[in-house]
Amino acid sequence: MLNIKKLSLIILLTLFIFPLSAENYNIIPEPTKITKVGEEVYQLPYEFSISFSEKELEFSANYLSDYIYDNLGFKSEVIKGSKFRADINLINLANGSTPGGYRINIDAPYGITIEGNDDAGVFYGVQTLIQLLPVNAAVLPQFDEILIEDEPALQYRGLLLDVVRHFLPVSYIKKFIDYMALHKLNYFHWHLTDDQAWRIEMKSHPELTEIGSYREGEIVGFFPGEYKELPYKAYYTQDEIREVVEYAADRHITVIPELDIPGHCMAVLATYPHFATDYGIDSIPPRKTAQTWGIYNRQNNVLAPTPEVFAFLKDVFEEVCNLFPAQYVHFGGDECAKKWWEQSPKTQQFMKENSLADEKALQSYFVDYVQKVISSQGKIAIGWDEIIEGNISKESVIMNWHRPSVGVEALKSGHKVVFASSQFFYFNRKESRSQSEIGHRGPLSLENVYNFEIPSEGLTQEEKNNIIGVQACLWTEYLPTTWKLEYFLFPRISALSEVCWSKSENKSWNNFKKKMVHQFDRYDLWGIRYNDAFFRLNDIVRSR
Ligand code: ACM
Repeated sequence: MLNIKKLSLIILLTLFIFPLSAENYNIIPEPTKITKVGEEVYQLPYEFSISFSEKELEFSANYLSDYIYDNLGFKSEVIKGSKFRADINLINLANGSTPGGYRINIDAPYGITIEGNDDAGVFYGVQTLIQLLPVNAAVLPQFDEILIEDEPALQYRGLLLDVVRHFLPVSYIKKFIDYMALHKLNYFHWHLTDDQAWRIEMKSHPELTEIGSYREGEIVGFFPGEYKELPYKAYYTQDEIREVVEYAADRHITVIPELDIPGHCMAVLATYPHFATDYGIDSIPPRKTAQTWGIYNRQNNVLAPTPEVFAFLKDVFEEVCNLFPAQYVHFGGDECAKKWWEQSPKTQQFMKENSLADEKALQSYFVDYVQKVISSQGKIAIGWDEIIEGNISKESVIMNWHRPSVGVEALKSGHKVVFASSQFFYFNRKESRSQSEIGHRGPLSLENVYNFEIPSEGLTQEEKNNIIGVQACLWTEYLPTTWKLEYFLFPRISALSEVCWSKSENKSWNNFKKKMVHQFDRYDLWGIRYNDAFFRLNDIVRSR
């Protein structure tokens, strides 16, 4: 007979083992699995401790301690060693399972344990725990007894920031990196050079920043707009670069530098006019960095294939390889207008001498040269997807910015690919047609970002294994202030984090929308400016 006691036991057990959606806990990105393991509530004591099992976890322990102090006002003691059972325990299992994976076990009245597959896993566990905390200061955290088991779907979870069109100081770059960490993103792609400036100090070529980091003005409003004088000069010293790299590494974020060649080079040509081809050079004397956007076809911005230029490329790429510890170095390779090469007699002569059939082959020659420089430094080259036009080495990673089908083509030709299609991941695009801010045309809705799936149909397992990740890009032509930059980045970065981290079967647009209501409270706590128009228009959040 089923007595009341047995029945309640069955009901309780059913409740305990039933996996919960993170919707109940509003965790973004959605974890792999959440299980309720008890009915008690664990309350963090007023004075609490955090332990860490090894030196490498000290940063994560202090990060959590600082977060709770800064946002809730409670001080904790941080202790090394796993013998002592603290209120929150951080442990690296070093178990060889999926990098970045972790488990959080909340067990009343004993406390919380975060076990990572590696150090990064512990850090991501800390990020998840942060999302279980109250969003109001002076409220003591309480937790359900749950077990969270989680791991990333993709190993490369990237975000590009263009600091050429508009510059951001190191203090803000650190903030940006913090935002990435809060969303479990792990590759910061730093777009450092373009037509409008060269923004990284080169010891081998100091003129690049002395001259090339300066522009006289910019257009007001939408391209082609009206030009206004606005002297603008800024760059990062190598000490600042090292400071950023270290700051990011503490947060398990790798910094990938990009020097964009052989097109997008007006800042190089402003510095070294003789690096240009002998066509179009007289059309804009004296040579300057670009004052406007999107002009690569109108003004000569390509490098000429001369011994001096190749020596220059070797110098700057070797220097960058030494400065950044990242495995990857990005060399651009996009939007190189061939007409400047077509109409240059000296370039045509070079092509003849080197048996290069056309300008596409010349583009490949440049790309191949730089790829070899990067690889001679023990690094892997990344380029935008135009580089598959040539016969680029399979070692190079392709960053897909055209339609995702181009990324698939790259996979089919044996390359590793990062999907960053402008159709889904150019966050500088406006969110809707009715949005009045000046921004790139072609609206990109939050739902479109969220629902992106890597097109894997028809790919072999080996080709699928070459999908290394997804990245979003923030090009800053129309994002001159941090206010506007954040308005375009948030909440899309939260959608990106689920695209990159959560398994497809755990993703749900409807759940995501509900979770975002709480995420906005976190944004408020973090002092972030965001665009919640979609949520207000659809009555998902109240008008503020
Ligand atoms: C790009 O948007 N030209 C990579």
